[in-house]
Amino acid sequence: MQVRLDKFLADAGIGTRSEVKSIIKRKAVTINGICAAKPEIKITPDEDEIAVNGTLVTMRGSVTYLLHKPAGYVCAVKDDRFPTVMEFVPQSRDLFPVGRLDKDTEGLLLITNDGGMAHRMLSPRSHVDKTYLAVLDRPAERAYADLFSAGVEIGDDTPTLPAGFVICGEDSRECEYLPEEYRADSGSGRVVLLTIQEGRYHQVKRMFHAVGNEVIYLKRLSFGALVLPTSLKKGEAICVEMPPMGLRPHFFKVPEKENIDDLKVNIEALKF
Ligand code: URA
Repeated sequence: MQVRLDKFLADAGIGTRSEVKSIIKRKAVTINGICAAKPEIKITPDEDEIAVNGTLVTMRGSVTYLLHKPAGYVCAVKDDRFPTVMEFVPQSRDLFPVGRLDKDTEGLLLITNDGGMAHRMLSPRSHVDKTYLAVLDRPAERAYADLFSAGVEIGDDTPTLPAGFVICGEDSRECEYLPEEYRADSGSGRVVLLTIQEGRYHQVKRMFHAVGNEVIYLKRLSFGALVLPTSLKKGEAICVEMPPMGLRPHFFKVPEKENIDDLKVNIEALKF
């Protein structure tokens, strides 16, 4: 069945009908590799490959953005008190954040209109790894590794599931993600990585609190197979392709391009 290009893109959650018209006008859309000239052009979704800024739009009509969440934004579609992460993606009524990061937490956040995928990513049964970079109030103790791998009591009905813990050395590549003010702390024992498979409320902060320490800075570096690209600045988002239904959420298609600039969602250009 044939559909208009602008309708297809709007249904895929790329933007409103008028936003996608403007994207097409800016020659950011290709049909089978050829620049699309007009919004009303007819395409066959099952046969044609439609791309926006080089990223394929999936035929399932779903879209997923990987956002580098800055601190100060809440993970909600709407909030009366604080700005929300939805400011960084095209306005589309179906988009929602996949899980929550605290208002003061930075890092990788998925925003999607694909409820099935979100469920598979968040379900405790999927055992999707989430790795956080934390700066602690005091140097970490090596004993944390055993405590976290055994599970700790954080005030819930059950202890946490086994978690992975590493103290970052001065040369750890993860230190690249540290904001300027904490760079001098790399190698001090206060910069650590924690990998958990659950998503309980304030989980990372509560786990460190349980072993007598406090988190003073927190950033999520990865979610399943998706890793926060170091070149993605705070407040920038890229479109990512999701695994087909039935595949475990670990099989994301991570953008292959070394330079992800072409994939970045130009939210400023979408505002008018
Ligand atoms: N754990 C926390 O404590 N906060 C987050 O934002 C995410 C995980």
